[in-house]
Amino acid sequence: MTGEELVIRAEAAAANAYAPYSNYLVGASVLTRDGRFFDGVNVENAAYPLGICAERTAIAKAASEGLRPGDLEAIGINASPCGGCRQWLHEWQFELVAFRREDGSIAEYSPAALLPDGWDLPT
Ligand code: THU
Repeated sequence: MTGEELVIRAEAAAANAYAPYSNYLVGASVLTRDGRFFDGVNVENAAYPLGICAERTAIAKAASEGLRPGDLEAIGINASPCGGCRQWLHEWQFELVAFRREDGSIAEYSPAALLPDGWDLPT
C-alpha cells in the first residue's frame, strides 16, 4: 500500500465527515502493521473547540481496539495535518505520514520531519 493509495482511502472516508460548521471534510486512513485499516473523519460540535480531527478519530479507533504506539505503520490524510495532530503522529510512532497538498501532489514525511524535536513526557 503506497502513501498515495492511503490518501485515496482517506479521500473516500472524508465523505462521512461531520463538519456542519466549517464544511471542511477531512478523512484519515490508518494502516496497521498487521494489515488492518482504521478510517476516521473530523467530528465537529456546536461548541466549536470540542470538535475532533480526522487523524485523532482514526487513531482513537485503533487505540480502542487495543493497538498501541508502534503498531501503526502509516496514515493517509486528505489535508496537511494540524499542529496538534502532528503531536499525535509523533506519539504513535508512525513510519509514514502521507497527505494531499493543496496543489494535488502527495506529500510523504516521517512524524519527526513534521515535528522536529518532538516533545515526550520526561521520565
Ligand atoms: N481538521 C482535521 O480534521 N484535521 C486536521 O489536521 C486539520 C483540521 C478539521 C478540524 C475541523 O473540523 C475542520 O478541519 C476545520 O478546521
